[in-house]
Amino acid sequence: MLHDWLAPKAAALEARGLTRRLRARAAGEDLIDLAGNDYLGLTRDPRVIAAAAAAVETWGTGSTASRLVTGTTELHEQLESALAAYAGQESALAFSSGYLANLGIVTALGGPGTLLVSDEHVHASLVDACRLARSRVEVVPHNDAEAVEKVLAGRNEPHALVLTESVFSVLSDEAPLTELAALALAHDAVLLVDEAHGLGVSGGGRGGVHAAGLAGLDHVVVTMTLSKSLASQGGVVLGPSVLRDHLINRARPFIYDTGLNPAAGAAALAALRVLQAEPHRPAAVHAAAARLAAAGGVPPSRGAVVSVPMPGPREAVRAAELCLENGVRVGSFRPPSVPDGISRVRLTAHAGLSSTDLDRACAVIADAIGQFS
Ligand SMILES: Cc1ncc(COP(=O)(O)O)c(C=O)c1O
Repeated sequence: MLHDWLAPKAAALEARGLTRRLRARAAGEDLIDLAGNDYLGLTRDPRVIAAAAAAVETWGTGSTASRLVTGTTELHEQLESALAAYAGQESALAFSSGYLANLGIVTALGGPGTLLVSDEHVHASLVDACRLARSRVEVVPHNDAEAVEKVLAGRNEPHALVLTESVFSVLSDEAPLTELAALALAHDAVLLVDEAHGLGVSGGGRGGVHAAGLAGLDHVVVTMTLSKSLASQGGVVLGPSVLRDHLINRARPFIYDTGLNPAAGAAALAALRVLQAEPHRPAAVHAAAARLAAAGGVPPSRGAVVSVPMPGPREAVRAAELCLENGVRVGSFRPPSVPDGISRVRLTAHAGLSSTDLDRACAVIADAIGQFS
């Protein structure tokens, strides 16, 4: 029965070149990795590994329950305080992923009395959060502050939440945060900024909200993932403590989910400490991204991800295969992961790349992409 149901769907995807396949990494592979999101090159940092191992010794292999039962350890509170202080926010609340942090805040603030105004390019987790929130949702054109203002001004709902990202996932461009925060304030709305790609990269590491002087404002809240610059896994919502208290009581992805694994929390905290002690790392990400953009023949990006448009999904996958055959792992973006339907080769810059690796990667990428232009 399942075969008859699913096989035609699989064939249709295959015909369009859009089938996704898992590829397991082998231990000890000798590849230059430009596909992972380890922006600061910290997943193998001995300080981060040691912190995770020590947390397993101290707290065990799991958090044992949801945060409201026994899943909150002193480590969770240390991580939250350290992240809030770093980002210039009053408080932080850790979730077990960035995806759940987005679901948590949007559903806890959403409902029939809240209008959600979402940039058309936001990450799937925010799209899904809008679907779950039981709010009216207005999707506005990308980075169009005028369109945001228009829907805010015309609303009937008493509350409104504007959703954006500081640095967008696919195009790696930045939201007009100052403008959005000003018009949110003028229209009695809250601005939610996903800093998944901003933390560790923008504003010297503290993110785009901090760089724009918006950190700590009552109407600007932030979500982050711990899985990119912080070399771990988990997510966090940052903002006023009244928001944190509300989430503890109302955010279902917080209340009904097992707490963040202590080892993941410890790794993220250790990575944050490294970032603070070695503030040159964000600049190294930008320098590597500029080199990759030049190799791909595209303008420099604002974040770690460099996207190179390709003629179609098959070409994007084939270019990635060619790179892999030459020792460089890159990613690809294909529908439905691209907001404008254009398939791309995805190159992720890392602070840890040696200049020899970067030279080699750039040569391989230019050659692979050149075959399709
Ligand atoms: C913009 C954005 N928000 C949220 C997430 C989800 O974070 P996590 O992987 O921690 O669930 C991601 C990607 O992973 C992302 O790119």
